[in-house]
Amino acid sequence: MTSLSHPGIDSTRMQPPGSHLIKFSFDQVLPVVSHGAGVFVYDTDGRRYLDGCSGAVNANLGHADPDVLRAMADQAARITFAHRGTFHSEHAERLADRLSELTGYPYVFLCNSGSEAVEAALKLVTQYWRERGEPDRGRFLSHRIGYHGSTVGALSLSGHPLRRWAADPLLHDFNTLTPPYSYRYADGRDDTAFTEFLLDDAAARLDDRSGTLAGVVVEPVGGAAGGAITPPDGYLAGLARLCRERGVPLVTDEVMTGLGRTGRVLAAEHWDIRPDLVVLGKGLGAGYVPTSAVLASREIVEAIGAGTRAVTNGHTHGGYPLSCVTSLAVLDVIESRGLVAAAARLGVRLRAGLEELAGRHEIIGEVRGKGLLQGLELVRDRDSRAPGDPLGSLTRALVTSAQEHGLLIYPATGGVNDAVLVAPPLISSPGEIDLLLELLDASLTSMKACSST
Ligand SMILES: Cc1ncc(COP(=O)(O)O)c(C=O)c1O
Repeated sequence: MTSLSHPGIDSTRMQPPGSHLIKFSFDQVLPVVSHGAGVFVYDTDGRRYLDGCSGAVNANLGHADPDVLRAMADQAARITFAHRGTFHSEHAERLADRLSELTGYPYVFLCNSGSEAVEAALKLVTQYWRERGEPDRGRFLSHRIGYHGSTVGALSLSGHPLRRWAADPLLHDFNTLTPPYSYRYADGRDDTAFTEFLLDDAAARLDDRSGTLAGVVVEPVGGAAGGAITPPDGYLAGLARLCRERGVPLVTDEVMTGLGRTGRVLAAEHWDIRPDLVVLGKGLGAGYVPTSAVLASREIVEAIGAGTRAVTNGHTHGGYPLSCVTSLAVLDVIESRGLVAAAARLGVRLRAGLEELAGRHEIIGEVRGKGLLQGLELVRDRDSRAPGDPLGSLTRALVTSAQEHGLLIYPATGGVNDAVLVAPPLISSPGEIDLLLELLDASLTSMKACSST
């Protein structure tokens, strides 16, 4: 043992022998990654995997894009890091200009991860109220089922029992809005009646202790908790109206959905809403660098401009040159190759294929989602809609079966149901979408064979 080891602790008894790394699951045996190219990832045994979930729904350009790698190498040779407290950065300015042109939001704050950007959005909202002389507004509302990240503020918004468990004593219970999850919460209502029910519930919660309410944070299409939960059509516009009527900022968390994933630049565009703040993450760095951003409306930033004129929140690497140049290269690829429109087009093909699979595989209870963010809810029994027993077991079985067939899909149970995300890179060809569907079909078939033995 080296002198850095804690005396008396035998690390080999805590984890599998030979590893000093704390892993997600101590007992899981995983393949060792070697390299990636386009929509494929390879392990060190030479096995090829079709990346049907873009890593963690972030590698939207696939792997090893030559244009992005070239931009990164050029910038790395100049300078990788300069602190934004010391130097003005033309790269950060250019990235903010570009995001502003693309989305119409006038202001951009840069961070490193989705969780950090969610925290930054919460703090911009609480600062907005403080600048306006209402310092008691510190309470947020979010959906009972949802995921916004693993830091304390973000987890307080998240209805993701698995992620909340260890941190529970630190967390607030902001996640109280009824989720727009028709499959399990509509209770026989049609979309119109369910929307009305959801909005009545939201209005009551917005008005309860309204003097302390700071803002509302939602995913326009759910991701990691529940699996692409897609609201009924009138819901988000109705929620935006309720917030506007009460002067409460609405924040949409587009860490997973943003920058083309759903077939629009922002998923909010599907329902013509314009939230006060938008959080971007995953697709902004696309797996090449960890980076994220908050897009902010004029009203929020002008309240700060008319007050303290300073934002004290920040992280060492927020907006550093290498990350900004990489994001600019990612945005170039998205725009020059028309990837937003491609996601809409390929999404139609993927959805049709998934619906066809649902027609043949009883285990698929529902197919839902937008563009290239599709989810499958898995059930033991279609009539009762019973999830796996134990919860999560169907998800694990399908993800494992897919991996054995050389296909990567994303577990999205979140401890609330059994579900997976199917979210291939935006650069996929139609043939690669068809290959994904073929591999998924085989994975579902052998999973059935498994469960019937
Ligand atoms: C909607 C949403 N928000 C926030 C996050 C947190 O992002 P990160 O893991 O980069 O901190 C995630 C991650 O899955 C997410 O899906």
